[in-house]
Amino acid sequence: MRISVIGCGYLGAVHAACMAELGHDVVGIDVDERKVAELSAGRAPFFEPGLPEVLQRATESGRLRFTTDMAEAAGAQVHFVAVGTPQTAGSHAADLTYVDAAVTGLLPHLADGDLVVGKSTVPVGTAARLGELVRASSDGADLAWNPEFLREGFAVQDTVSPDRFVYGVPAGQPGERATALLDEVYAKALATGTPRIVTDYATAELVKVSANAFLATKISFINAMAEIAEATGADVTQLADAIGHDARIGRRFLNAGLGFGGGCLPKDIRAFQARADELGLRSLDFLADVDAVNLRRRDRVVSLAEELVGTVSGSRIAVLGVAFKPDSDDVRDSPALDVARRLHAAGAHVAVFDPEANATAARLAPDLDYVADATAALRGADAVLVLTEWPEFRQLDPALVGELAAHRRVVDGRNVLDPAAWRAAGFEYRGLGRP
Ligand code: UDX
Repeated sequence: MRISVIGCGYLGAVHAACMAELGHDVVGIDVDERKVAELSAGRAPFFEPGLPEVLQRATESGRLRFTTDMAEAAGAQVHFVAVGTPQTAGSHAADLTYVDAAVTGLLPHLADGDLVVGKSTVPVGTAARLGELVRASSDGADLAWNPEFLREGFAVQDTVSPDRFVYGVPAGQPGERATALLDEVYAKALATGTPRIVTDYATAELVKVSANAFLATKISFINAMAEIAEATGADVTQLADAIGHDARIGRRFLNAGLGFGGGCLPKDIRAFQARADELGLRSLDFLADVDAVNLRRRDRVVSLAEELVGTVSGSRIAVLGVAFKPDSDDVRDSPALDVARRLHAAGAHVAVFDPEANATAARLAPDLDYVADATAALRGADAVLVLTEWPEFRQLDPALVGELAAHRRVVDGRNVLDPAAWRAAGFEYRGLGRP
């Protein structure tokens, strides 16, 4: 099938490459010439495990190309919209500028019977509004909403074989047609038994934001327990293991630490709450607390560092990890980068090392001292902060770290180090919600 993908960021580039991998003939379209040039050369413009290999295979097979010209969408039967919906400056609502521009930009190039498929995360009500525009543009053209649940770091796997498909489609025969087209796009994954839920627009839009709100709530729940543990001497990691054995609760996404960041969860819970406010509903007021608990964890890590070094100003702090999570170079709303910047602002010399995110972080926070490896960050450090749980940081040898650092002090911002081993090596150890 011929497919166009509008927007080639973290979501769209992976989607375009994976659709070609599934055997479709794909054109990826983006306004960013640099990104298009990189992708056209078969190179991923960001770090995502497995993506370079898929891109290479797809471009070599001739089934995948990239362009800045929207007119090249003409001829595709299915057009995915995968542009960003960032937080609006000065408000919590989602900024729909890019989604609106992508859909209106597509309209002149649609042929009768084409299907526009929204993948971006949008406030409930958006698909109904855009569907009218698409249907008015050409005969039999229609719109479906097919939210994306991919996790960075697992984006290729999540796109090729997701947990489930959700199709938000119009009622009646147009909906059946849209469903049949999407079934053809995803035929390979459906053949392996992947569940698919066919529903209306509003439900499909809500599935995505409610999934992210639930995940954020789960993380903030365990971080709230970490606060209680800190006041009472309990250990939140053992508490998580114990409640996680209850299958109704489950252990995944119960890791207490520096909290959630990235390009999705923080802005999505804010936009969801803003939408509920617009609807005159108090239903999502609790998300303000979810957000607040999450942000307090950053304050906590900054104060643990202060407590360990005494005076931050003039101290040397090693920050290991600035990506918002491992296996990513993404630093959008990264809790780790936030902590590093705050310590720098308080007068510390902050030496930063991240296996993949030094360059992306340097673009946002150029004043920090980015170094080439963990050893360089650790040398002469008054305190060591592990802020992103990359495997190489989990496996650090405390004896070796102790030899490099000026003082044996460590903040385990992700609760991934063995406190006993670090204490045995003479470290003052501080975790989050751990004694
Ligand atoms: C998320 C959703 O998981 C995905 O389904 C959606 O499509 C996009 O948003 P992503 O942002 O890639 O994906 O990261 P995710 O793995 O969900 O982690 C989000 C943040 O939560 C990270 O900062 C991570 O460090 C943090 N986290 C996760 C915790 O603090 N504790 C946990 O137990 C799990």
